[in-house]
Amino acid sequence: MEAPRLFERPVRRFLWDVKGTGMETALSLLRHRLNENEHTTLRDIVSGLPKLRRISKPMSCFLSRHQETIRVELSSASARQSLAVGMANGFLAYLLDRYQYMRPSAQDRARVLDSYRAMTDVIADATDEPEGSAGTALGAHHDRLQDITLGMLRSVGALDDVLNGAAPICRQYSPSLQCEILGLTGDDLTGPLLDIGCGEAAELVGFLRSQGYPAWGIDRLASDHGQAMPGDWFSPPTAPGGWRTIVAHLSFSLHFVHAHLHSGSEAKRYAIAYMTILDRLQPGGSFLYAPSLPFVERLLDPRRFHVVASPLHLPSGGAVSSSRVTKLVQGSGLPPEEDAG
Ligand SMILES: C[S@@+](CC[C@H](N)C(=O)[O-])C[C@H]1O[C@@H](n2cnc3c(N)ncnc32)[C@H](O)[C@@H]1O
Repeated sequence: MEAPRLFERPVRRFLWDVKGTGMETALSLLRHRLNENEHTTLRDIVSGLPKLRRISKPMSCFLSRHQETIRVELSSASARQSLAVGMANGFLAYLLDRYQYMRPSAQDRARVLDSYRAMTDVIADATDEPEGSAGTALGAHHDRLQDITLGMLRSVGALDDVLNGAAPICRQYSPSLQCEILGLTGDDLTGPLLDIGCGEAAELVGFLRSQGYPAWGIDRLASDHGQAMPGDWFSPPTAPGGWRTIVAHLSFSLHFVHAHLHSGSEAKRYAIAYMTILDRLQPGGSFLYAPSLPFVERLLDPRRFHVVASPLHLPSGGAVSSSRVTKLVQGSGLPPEEDAG
């Protein structure tokens, strides 16, 4: 399968955001560079592929020819800042797209931005041959990006995976498939529903809302507008009286499994977040997720939680198991509907 174009999605959004801000030549230079490296993989970045560290001949010619225009376009601090922020966000979004289990810290984000700031300044101020100052700066820039990426992968125990060619790409799925896999029923929709890791487009949330159900979503990639709120599942939002239903399709539990297999400290964080999510449910409410988490489900107190894991065979031939964990009405030891009957 052909690797998706480097930065394609984040950069398309970024180029749209800065459209008409008078940086057309600088953006052409960026596009040029992205086209040259469109099939770069995460492994290329972490192993320091020499091509990434060099200015190609056509790039060098473009820079020489347009140096003065680029200098004028990037003469203000705000223009340089917006270009650097856009590129840094594009790079981080690319990393999360390519290896979804990475978790950049605030410090990682700041270091990526600093590196793009430094690179932008060199391009804006270049006075000699591009192979000179810009070429040296590009090498140093890629050394820094390589170092930051290595650190992020090591912190989630994933470096070996990436060096072995693994690329757990982040995808989004249709609402109907998600409903089927999660086993969502009408009863789950009688109160507020939260989708954690709902995806940038929050398709399940949008679908439920279009049917008149009170649904919300959080995702670390969500922008401030739209039906998904930016948020982190390590601090899930609350609802007055609690959520009737919380869903996580190939999101929270998938990452929990990865942490369980790769890093003890990450797994502990996930275990704490899992209990916080259950805490956010109203009595009788359920947490529905896929894949299942048998290694943690068996530790739940059966007087407080009722667990049902359902294996599901997909039309594609794959198999997945989803789980429904229901918070019992205190003292009854039964899910509410059985209690009532
Ligand atoms: C494989 S996608 C699944 C999206 C959606 N649930 C679906 O099935 O279409 C996993 C999602 O989890 C989000 N995610 C990863 N870590 C997160 C975190 N710590 N907090 C919130 N969202 C996160 C990613 O941004 C991504 O959108």
